[in-house]
Amino acid sequence: MPLYTLNINNNSFEVEVNKGTSLLWVLREHLGLTGTKYSCGIAQCGSCTIHIDQKPMRACILTVENFAMGQKILTIEGLSEKGEHPVQKAWIKTQAPQCGYCQSGQIMQAVALLKEKPKPSREEIKSYMNGILCRCGTYMRILEAIEIASEENSAIN
Ligand code: FES
Ligand code: FES
Repeated sequence: MPLYTLNINNNSFEVEVNKGTSLLWVLREHLGLTGTKYSCGIAQCGSCTIHIDQKPMRACILTVENFAMGQKILTIEGLSEKGEHPVQKAWIKTQAPQCGYCQSGQIMQAVALLKEKPKPSREEIKSYMNGILCRCGTYMRILEAIEIASEENSAIN
């Protein structure tokens, strides 16, 4: 099996897996980064959202061999070791999660939005977050959390 070196959360990881293995599988099963969730597996729900070079992408449809050239992969674990990222704090403030399953994907999408546009309008938030599904229907609390994070922080990293 080929050996791949991946840049994840500013650390270098080596994994020996078959070509074509999904990046989500590598994160969860080979590296123990289980914060990124598997749900639909076909890029339709957003629960597996991570950042590749600062852009939100669905890890379930990415394959490992395409990310061995030093692209920066960021997972929910890389935001803050103790949950102190401004977006995570806003999530706690609004008590956004219900079952929690979709929430790391929601947070990663929200962080990408606020990096791209620190002060989005409510409509822009809705549009950017569209497609990150929550079976528990926590959308209003997520919206509120993003607005809080946007108001309280001038720069989201
Ligand atoms: S598990 Fe990747 S988008 Fe649903
Ligand atoms: S909190 Fe349960 S799926 Fe979103």
